[in-house]
Amino acid sequence: MALNIDLTLPLKRELEKAHKAFDDAKAKGETDEAKKMALVCCNILIQLAKSDPNKKTEYIDAAKSYKNYADSGAKPASSAAPANNFEQIRDDQKDLAGYAESLIAKSTVTWKDIGGLDSVKVRIMETIVIAGLQKPVSIKPDKGILLFGPPGTGKTLLAAAAAGSLNATFFNVKVSNVLSKYFGESSKLITSLYETARKKQPSIIFIDEFDSITMSREEESGDASRKVLSTLLSELDGFQDKKSDELLLTLAATNTPWDLDEAILSRFPLRIYIPLPDSRSCEEIIKIQLKGLDITSLNLGKVSEICTRKNYSGRDIQFLCQEALRSMIRVHNPDLYKKSELPFEELKKQTLSIGPMIMEYFETAFERVKSPMTEKDLERFRKWNNEFGL
Ligand SMILES: Nc1ncnc2c1ncn2[C@@H]1O[C@H](COP(=O)(O)OP(=O)(O)OP(=O)(O)O)[C@@H](O)[C@H]1O
Ligand SMILES: [Mg+2]
Repeated sequence: MALNIDLTLPLKRELEKAHKAFDDAKAKGETDEAKKMALVCCNILIQLAKSDPNKKTEYIDAAKSYKNYADSGAKPASSAAPANNFEQIRDDQKDLAGYAESLIAKSTVTWKDIGGLDSVKVRIMETIVIAGLQKPVSIKPDKGILLFGPPGTGKTLLAAAAAGSLNATFFNVKVSNVLSKYFGESSKLITSLYETARKKQPSIIFIDEFDSITMSREEESGDASRKVLSTLLSELDGFQDKKSDELLLTLAATNTPWDLDEAILSRFPLRIYIPLPDSRSCEEIIKIQLKGLDITSLNLGKVSEICTRKNYSGRDIQFLCQEALRSMIRVHNPDLYKKSELPFEELKKQTLSIGPMIMEYFETAFERVKSPMTEKDLERFRKWNNEFGL
């Protein structure tokens, strides 16, 4: 399955690091080091330009300004670089906007990539459709939906599918990253994030590890996260957002909903439990994970039944299928490793042999994959769902 991996994301992270090293070196007056880092930034930007043709000009412009700096002798950047790019890159505000932009991930996930979870899918689809349609002003689409449940059940996948299905701008945000990286400025980052998202509508903002935003509230040093939280809450209240004819949907995910407090919960009247898959959903997930393979000799019902009995999540099923696939590959391609001596170009011309998937492959796979979820954990989710869920 094609997942929503934005190939430019690691590069953007590299760039961010290099840029920081560059800034630090400059601040310390270490011109040689700064120049070295400017070249590193330049190279990363060139790679970015190659991998994201849509933003090619922006990247090339930025690369040029770093290159100018690196070539500029000991002159400070302000005089060495063309006024309209380098200085701007260093500008704080731009930095934040740049960081907000770097959180944009490409999503090619579609609803079909998700097994089960039908009612959640429908709810999110409805939200999107309502946002798109012409309607009386009193009808407002949902602004925020909280997805809670055990790890690996499809929360991130749902957000990615929501974005992928309507080709929306998809912001993939981890609270812990925002808090640690921009400590002190994190709340500005949230503002910048929503500004960017508003400009690029339709947008889906996915906030992962949502619980970590409240956890640190109780600590002494929780000032930054308190600010982040209140900024986020006011964004969710959306009084700045007069333009309700477009879609800006915040999906927040957590594995520990009980850590969230009243203020947050009240902004997320829609709290949807994303449980472990039932046996029908397991079947669907297995089919998705084994797409393109012959599964006619497989007793899907039985495999699914074992998956539910073992409290497998979608992620566990993914591992299970990968393990089973390995066995199949080994059976149909003995001595596969010997090909490792071939040049890669040669390998690309050859095809992997595949055969039908059979129960036997799953038997060893089942032994390898263990679910971390106990009945007690699940009971806690169910209880919270009964009390606070949709
Ligand atoms: N309902 C599902 N349908 C198809 N695949 C699924 C489903 N749930 C999970 N998976 C598989 O498991 C992987 C992990 O799922 P995902 O990242 O959405 O879990 P999550 O709920 O966000 O977990 P976490 O709480 O740990 O972040 C997916 O990439 C996918 O391969
Ligand atoms: Mg996730």
